[in-house]
Amino acid sequence: MTKHLFIKTYGCQMNVYDSARMAELMTPLGYALAASPEGADLVILNTCHIRDKAAEKVFSELGTIRRLKEARARQGGRMIVAVAGCVAQAEGAEIFERAPFVDLVFGPQTYHNLPEMVARASRAAGERVLDTSFPAEPKFDFLPPTTTAPGVSAFLTVQEGCDKFCTFCVVPYTRGAEYSRPAAEIIAEARLLVAGGAREITLLGQNVNAYHGHAPPDGPNGGEWRLGELIRALARIPGLARLRYTTSHPRDVDDGLVAAHRDVPELMPFLHLPVQSGSDRVLAAMNRRHTADQYRQTVGRLRGARPDLALSSDFIVGFPGESAADFQATLDLVGEIGFAQAFSFKYSPRPGTPAASAGDQVPEPVKTERLAALQALLREQQRAFGQSSIGRTLPVLFEKPGRHPGQLVGRSPYSQSVHAEAGAERIGDIVPVTILDAQPNSLAGAIEPEPRSLAEPRLLAEHRA
Ligand code: 5AD
Ligand code: SF4
Repeated sequence: MTKHLFIKTYGCQMNVYDSARMAELMTPLGYALAASPEGADLVILNTCHIRDKAAEKVFSELGTIRRLKEARARQGGRMIVAVAGCVAQAEGAEIFERAPFVDLVFGPQTYHNLPEMVARASRAAGERVLDTSFPAEPKFDFLPPTTTAPGVSAFLTVQEGCDKFCTFCVVPYTRGAEYSRPAAEIIAEARLLVAGGAREITLLGQNVNAYHGHAPPDGPNGGEWRLGELIRALARIPGLARLRYTTSHPRDVDDGLVAAHRDVPELMPFLHLPVQSGSDRVLAAMNRRHTADQYRQTVGRLRGARPDLALSSDFIVGFPGESAADFQATLDLVGEIGFAQAFSFKYSPRPGTPAASAGDQVPEPVKTERLAALQALLREQQRAFGQSSIGRTLPVLFEKPGRHPGQLVGRSPYSQSVHAEAGAERIGDIVPVTILDAQPNSLAGAIEPEPRSLAEPRLLAEHRA
């Protein structure tokens, strides 16, 4: 009999990837994904610890799950409840203390053992399993080849963990040390995704351009590959039209990666390159290991290689010790660079990280005010970027049905959402769309009447000329 599995995913794209892999692990055991936790046999909360009161959010969600588990028990059924991901890693056994009905707690590096953990929890009523270890052997060695039908746009984790230790960040503690998957393994997974229908792959890693994986035995530049080499190899997979990668660190933008932006047409001209702050003093206190000028230079190198590159970034306001002048330096940098898109956050002290215990915390109202000022500027830049697309014809990769019947939605090379009237048979196609309107978060356009052959970079070059 089919069993039901409900997974709620919080946080970043890597959690989305991990959740899909967890579902794949349970499929051979008869579990099918369910749309709601009601009546599920297994509920997994795949959690995020990066900001705010992450643990509180999880415990509040667990309150709901507890009631559903009790209802299930009254009907004579059994619901196994698992807390996975970065809150599980950070809180560990504390989760059992506060939520005794939870059966499994495991971190991001041990989920390959999910079937065994579920079996143990199912056997004896009340057996709990806690695994927040960092195994010496990477989980990827144990995960079966991917079997899920990917969407048109798929995620592929190539690197995990982080050795940078920015002083605000929990990632090095929750995801562990930096690990790069061997290139051959990544290429094999990418081929499976493409065979399953993916036309675009986003390479994922907490610090994705720190990638330094084993080169394939038969590949050039034996030994180790950096991200630029991996991108070149993946771009040669027939049927794979687009590549992206996220999240990158300014320190790790090497010449090979810059050259890939110049030479590889499949690598889309959009890059999320977080800077966090425009003040050298704050960047040093954050342990970012680069200055604002070095960020400007890196952007200059990238734009030199790919002039139409659109940039996105993350910002933190109100980092401990941030003065009005420091904040102004951030606004200045934003003004100079010009971002197509961005995420900005108030500094959120994370237990166990160095910055959390700094004495000079910025008062909440100051953070609120700075965030509003920064977001107003970033919103304006995003609006201007959207407006600048009006009248241009962009190659759009259609991904799924749009808001209204008869519409599809897809992405431009610059990662903008584009809606257009089109039949469902065009999902997975790259189609020239003339942009007619720009909303704050999406564009609307019309398909060019005459189908044209699209060599993406050429087309873009034409339209920029
Ligand atoms: N407080 C606020 N923002 C944070 N980020 C990471 N840690 C914190 C924190 N403690 C932001 C950074 C990072 C993004 C993923 O989340 O901007 O790039
Ligand atoms: Fe966190 Fe990114 Fe810094 Fe690593 S590089 S510590 S993931 S912010």
